[in-house]
Amino acid sequence: MPAITAVRGRLVYNSRGSPTIEVDITTDDRHTGRAAAPSGASVGIHETASFPEGGVAASLQILNDNAGRISGADPGDVGAMHKVIREIDPEPGYPKMGGSLAFALSIAAAESAAKSAGKPLYRFLGEQAPLASASSASSASPAERYRFPFPLGNILGGGAHAGPGTPDMQEILICATGSDTVQDAIRTNLEVHSELRGVLQKLDPGFSGGKGDEGGWAPKLDNERALQAAAKACENLGFTLGREVSLGVDFASSTQWDASRSRYVYDRAGFENDPGEQIEFASDLISRFKLIYAEDAVHEEAFEDMAQIRARFPDVLVTGDDLTVTNAAILEKAARGGSCNAAILKVNQAGGLYDALEFAAAGARNGIRLVTSHRSGESTESHISHIGIATGSKMLKVGVVGGERVAKLNELLRIAESQDGTEHDLIQGMAEL
Ligand code: PGA
Ligand code: ZN
Repeated sequence: MPAITAVRGRLVYNSRGSPTIEVDITTDDRHTGRAAAPSGASVGIHETASFPEGGVAASLQILNDNAGRISGADPGDVGAMHKVIREIDPEPGYPKMGGSLAFALSIAAAESAAKSAGKPLYRFLGEQAPLASASSASSASPAERYRFPFPLGNILGGGAHAGPGTPDMQEILICATGSDTVQDAIRTNLEVHSELRGVLQKLDPGFSGGKGDEGGWAPKLDNERALQAAAKACENLGFTLGREVSLGVDFASSTQWDASRSRYVYDRAGFENDPGEQIEFASDLISRFKLIYAEDAVHEEAFEDMAQIRARFPDVLVTGDDLTVTNAAILEKAARGGSCNAAILKVNQAGGLYDALEFAAAGARNGIRLVTSHRSGESTESHISHIGIATGSKMLKVGVVGGERVAKLNELLRIAESQDGTEHDLIQGMAEL
């Protein structure tokens, strides 16, 4: 059993250039885990706040004040680490330390323990209490137990991730749903992203090639024409939507929602929807563009409206993000009401790793498909590639291009290699959608 002998925190910057916290954890057998917290731009109201008042400096102070308590803890048990973190900050939502410190501390500890055990992080996590409850699964070999999630990548950005003139909708996403291997799925997403640039340049010779926060192109187009361009890029490559590739949309509808007027305001496109019209608007796009994936098609408190969309499209991943905020209790509520059949897992929405693993377990209990996701402000780390595999996620939402996005995809390519030189630990194929 390893024990933590040193913990150190520092201020570093994320992909948006915003300050965040990074934590190093070192064990008595001299393995170091390191994690830096990501951050969102379109943040759910029920998400854990990233930092307490005082920002990164206040979180670092808490870390330094509690270094003695963290030293000696066992990083090999995510539940035990969670208890240590909860001793420091027992209130829901980590108001004292901030979700970013809970994130960085718990993931750095897990990485140090996985290294100490000589295991890839996904296997270490898959054996942890909230995930390992299916006893038959835990006795299976890694080859039998784990699958690759389909990479889901932002090819065209708008909303809170891009500037004026871009679509109101936050993200148009590509997923190579026909791929048999993770290598092919990654390559296919890259091809579509690249082809789309040419399509956009034909539509607007002045298109500069500018990108949004997650590496998707940021053209001056409305929602409809942006989706048409994405579909055209797929078609140019000889793909049929719904066969080799499928499109998805993150509507991030809370960005448009004006609660005081009960209207969705699409000010870039110049129209408004009442809640009923929004359901029709989203449903029409899902049908016409054969979307496989529709995230936050209504605002974050519209559980019943989401249920209507879910009932209409049983074969689409009708996904909660701001709706479910990686909160197990909220997910149970969404499941009871039939609001979604899929949910985003972002560790920092919940705070720590243990909270996120509990959320994953709640998803499995309720037949909700998981989509492990990056944030728009990211580190160059790749823990989420492992978290996606360990949690049995169907998709891994990590972008297509940009160093901080490609880092996650490249990690999947490394994981696809045998770790011990035998077939025993080779992950066989893709998740079943
Ligand atoms: P965020 O965006 O990281 O800015 O919240 C991602 C998303 O909404 O899925
Ligand atoms: Zn989202």
